[in-house]
Amino acid sequence: MSFDCGEHTLHVKPDLFVENRRRLVESLAGKALPGSFVVLQGGVGKPRYNVDLDEVVFRQESYFFWTFGVHESELFGLIDVDSGKSVLFPPLLPEDYHIWEGKVRDEAWFREKYQVDEVIFKNEFAISDYLEANKASMLYLLEAQNTDSGSVLPPAPSQFVPGILYSLSQNNLLISFQIRSDTSLLYPIMANLRVFKTDLELQVMRYASQIACEAHKDVMKTLKPKMYEYQGESIFRHHTHFHGGCRHLAYTCIAASGENGAVMHHGGPDAPNNRQTKDGDMCVFDMGPEYNCYSSDVTCSFPVNGKFTPKQKIIYNAVLKANLAVFEAAKPGVRWTDMHLLGEKIMLTELKAAGLLQGDVDKMVQSRLGAVFQPVGLGHLIGLDIHDVGGYLGDALPRSLEPGLKNLRTTRTLQERMVITIEPGCYFIDQLLDEALADPKLSKFLIPAKIDEFRGSGGVRIEDVVCIWAKGNENLSKNLPRTVEEIERFMA
Ligand code: GLY
Ligand code: MN
Ligand code: MN
Repeated sequence: MSFDCGEHTLHVKPDLFVENRRRLVESLAGKALPGSFVVLQGGVGKPRYNVDLDEVVFRQESYFFWTFGVHESELFGLIDVDSGKSVLFPPLLPEDYHIWEGKVRDEAWFREKYQVDEVIFKNEFAISDYLEANKASMLYLLEAQNTDSGSVLPPAPSQFVPGILYSLSQNNLLISFQIRSDTSLLYPIMANLRVFKTDLELQVMRYASQIACEAHKDVMKTLKPKMYEYQGESIFRHHTHFHGGCRHLAYTCIAASGENGAVMHHGGPDAPNNRQTKDGDMCVFDMGPEYNCYSSDVTCSFPVNGKFTPKQKIIYNAVLKANLAVFEAAKPGVRWTDMHLLGEKIMLTELKAAGLLQGDVDKMVQSRLGAVFQPVGLGHLIGLDIHDVGGYLGDALPRSLEPGLKNLRTTRTLQERMVITIEPGCYFIDQLLDEALADPKLSKFLIPAKIDEFRGSGGVRIEDVVCIWAKGNENLSKNLPRTVEEIERFMA
């Protein structure tokens, strides 16, 4: 047992998480003190504001999920670093739980489902009793800061502080015995392990991306001019859930049409995919489901009426050329920053050939002209989170201050088993174009009259999920119509 959504979906075995725990214990060997335990806190379900019902659909916290593969809420998990033994502490549920929420599972159910060594229901002393009985001398807790958002996952459980062990009940302080804790060792090790995907993880990621591709194709076949953006989103949601068993999406759907294609994260509260499409619009549909918490992130750009205009072809082909060139060049040992610059260079070369730009392309790249047309990073690591962890660990260079480059979510050199999105884009954003035209360092490259012809057209993004291999990269989001001709044939 572990996870599937019926025979038509992928069966994920608990071995995936047994292997993750083994990798964690191996990585801690020689670094962790004898008698130490890893202590992780799982996610807690949240209601929508201060209401009684209407929970936001629960989704497990990603580090906890990586370690235990557990879908239920309010658990703690322990790993004995010396022996590798794993213990889950599910919550003790109220007596009437089954009336409202469903079956109360027993220890054997958790043990078998998640292939852990022990399961102990969590009363307020369960964890401290266990640690004391097992002579724990050091707890490694996870404190993880997101380098993009700055937000911090607090060390879990926050009730532990150095020198004193509190009980795990909310208000009931229990000083039971002396124990030390550390929040610095675990994070870089766990985050870096998450960067490199195992074969079992890759199976799940392939599945999520294939469902994404089939759903995108369904959208491309169904959407017609005058339909609303949200109707495209709705087809995607239905397809991924109904056919793929993907209850969650990895991020808010970006179902952008026309000028909205130039809004990087269109679809949020201020622009909830509510524009009516028009004949002649380009669509930038960036949508991805997650399966068993593993994400996909795929963007298809296509004309809503199924036929590219000559201008749309220019921009589409420039972006596709950049996408394919990066796919070929992104080998182990190559720095991601250089891939961003390569993508820019190809796109700027094509824009120059089409008469939008003039001058030396290398000088354009140095002047950061690329960031006028592509203000975001070329792509990002992806895994349990769509913008996955570890982008600024390892051999990463510090975050750049330069336009465009400062938005890179990683600057690492690529290595086998990294899964990363390749998502070059070309966007016509009035504010950035006007600022560039007012800046002599940039304006000398621009041909305003020609650029004006493209203003208001939105943009194009072509995004794939790619696993880096020395033998040649693997496109997890293959089987999509990608060339102009393929898209026109597919939509006809
Ligand atoms: N869907 C957001 C991104 O591509 O990063
Ligand atoms: Mn992406
Ligand atoms: Mn995306």
